[in-house]
Amino acid sequence: AAKMGSDLERVLITNDEMQQRLKEIAKQVDADFAGRSILMVGVLKGAVMVMADLSRHLQSDVEMDWMAVSSYGSGTKSSGVVRILKDLDSDVHERHVLLAEDIIDSGLTLAWLKENLEARGAASVTIVTALRKPDALKVPVEVGYVGFDIPNEFVVGYGLDYAGKYRNLDCVGTLAPHVYGGDDVDE
Ligand code: PRP
Ligand code: MN
Ligand code: MG
Repeated sequence: AAKMGSDLERVLITNDEMQQRLKEIAKQVDADFAGRSILMVGVLKGAVMVMADLSRHLQSDVEMDWMAVSSYGSGTKSSGVVRILKDLDSDVHERHVLLAEDIIDSGLTLAWLKENLEARGAASVTIVTALRKPDALKVPVEVGYVGFDIPNEFVVGYGLDYAGKYRNLDCVGTLAPHVYGGDDVDE
């Protein structure tokens, strides 16, 4: 764990840069949602950092709820069908939902989730994502707020994992080749 940072090849976004951007987004959210009560929905597990940080930059009071989802196996992933592992506790009917993610990669998870929440009768569903890979998109996703567009490379940190690790890095970076290649991986 102590050498986690040295497993990075390149830092793409520092924590300072992320917080600065989230502050700007928070200002926009406060203005755009003025007078409406917000239900923030985070997608476990990757979205925990952006939920915690963005919500604390907001002036608006928000309720928070969580979903956990899993894509079906790679053979059917292109269908964009998602299985709900943990559903919301709240009823989203007539609520203004701010749906938060760490990253939009293919877009399949959020495209499905947005449609799912709209089908439950949400008054609005607005997506906020810390990161987006425009070159990896397979389906169009209408996004309200994007932290950073990044190249189509495998990145970790700020909620994003490799085999369950590196989520608690405060920056976003690419992994050094020895992390993938070596046979000295802990698990
Ligand atoms: C990752 C990421 C997004 C999703 C993006 O989650 O956190 O939720 O994939 O991919 P997509 O745009 O191609 O659908 P993952 O399934 O790895 O679960 P995790 O958040 O628990 O790591
Ligand atoms: Mn995720
Ligand atoms: Mg993951």
